[in-house]
Amino acid sequence: MKIDFQLQMWIGCGNIKVSKILSYCNTKHLAVVPQGGNTGLVGGSVPVYDEVIISLASMDKIISFDKVNGILTCEAGCILQNLNSFLANEGFIMPLDLGAKGSCQIGGNVSTNAGGLRFIRYGSLHGNTLGLEVVLANGTVLNMLGTLRKDNTGYDLKHLFIGSEGSLGIVTKVSILTPAKLLSTNLAFLACQDYLSCQKLLLEAKKGLGEILSAFEFMDSHSIDMVLVHLEGIRNPLPLSLSKFYVLIETTGSDESHDKAKLEAFLLRSMEDGLVSDGVIAQDINQESMFWRIREGISEATVKAGPVYKYDLSLPVEKLYDIVEEMRLRLGEMAKVVGYGHLGDGNLHLNISATEYSDNIIAKIEPFVYEWTSMHRGSISAEHGLGLMKANKIHYSKTSETVQLMASIKKLLDPNCILNPYKVLPQSLLN
Ligand code: MLT
Ligand code: ZN
Repeated sequence: MKIDFQLQMWIGCGNIKVSKILSYCNTKHLAVVPQGGNTGLVGGSVPVYDEVIISLASMDKIISFDKVNGILTCEAGCILQNLNSFLANEGFIMPLDLGAKGSCQIGGNVSTNAGGLRFIRYGSLHGNTLGLEVVLANGTVLNMLGTLRKDNTGYDLKHLFIGSEGSLGIVTKVSILTPAKLLSTNLAFLACQDYLSCQKLLLEAKKGLGEILSAFEFMDSHSIDMVLVHLEGIRNPLPLSLSKFYVLIETTGSDESHDKAKLEAFLLRSMEDGLVSDGVIAQDINQESMFWRIREGISEATVKAGPVYKYDLSLPVEKLYDIVEEMRLRLGEMAKVVGYGHLGDGNLHLNISATEYSDNIIAKIEPFVYEWTSMHRGSISAEHGLGLMKANKIHYSKTSETVQLMASIKKLLDPNCILNPYKVLPQSLLN
């Protein structure tokens, strides 16, 4: 697209520029796509036709850090890992962590309500985001950049923008509650013979590890095989276990000897009870990184393996692995089905790796996967959002009245539908 002269003058950074660009685009009915680190998995930041891309990357300043209350205020383009490094020097951490931390941006994280590895401990961005600055479609800068933990004055509008994937406004600044960095971390890589043992282990971990439990991730053996085959320099920490399931348990606390003793006692009990068949605790930082690399590398490994169909489901934990097994039966030799995810949050990543993208394969997967999830009262997007790829599937997880109200809110805030078109909601409801 040929960039308008006036639009060119505003290229740069700052909320005023975002405001001017949006106001101009709104007047001219030009569609825009806000872009953070472009690490999403459902096409939420991808232009579909000739939209203007608004990248937030140069808005990357840390505005303030209130050490007494652990409140960080920064611009939307700050990279998650950079924020974490900044906070580490202050003795704090970000309340979220994900595989894409090296390139994803906090504005994108908030706009997609990203989940990730620390969710089980610190909860969602709806809970941790204290304030936002958002630019609306008509260019109005909505200053909701509060830093209070408690504020019951009227509707808490920031929640509309958390997880709305840039369809209601563009997040330009964020203030976020950050937990203190606790110095004792332990990580165990465990093998379980069956899925029931993984479930029981989760319950026992919640009871037995309590306040120090900071991650409970699970991977089936097919996921591990993907990593071993497609990523370099990785070994299975439990090469002899030949287990069907693996679990990564992290504890984070403030007393090294107490935390370690607690984890060791928990593992001993779990082995005696037959929940864990084999296991190892990371002995140093290198081993810790290796264990995390296995878990965080699964997604990358499936992409390296070739065409992959990705689903991100919330399901009751006791049902969560059934869909993986059913899918394996449905697809037979047509594809490799791998299941992994954030078991502690009831979040399954179902990845189907094939040699081609084909209508034949899709017809075996969809709508089955959505109908099955809906039947079990799950969500068809636990943490990745709907973006472009799943916008038309929203009705599997939301009632028609709810979707209609969402469409009304969209039309109220963005009457010309310039913000991130074709994403989140079915286009048919907005015409
Ligand atoms: C993960 O937890 O590894 C990601 O959310 C899943 C993915 O990239 O598919
Ligand atoms: Zn995930």
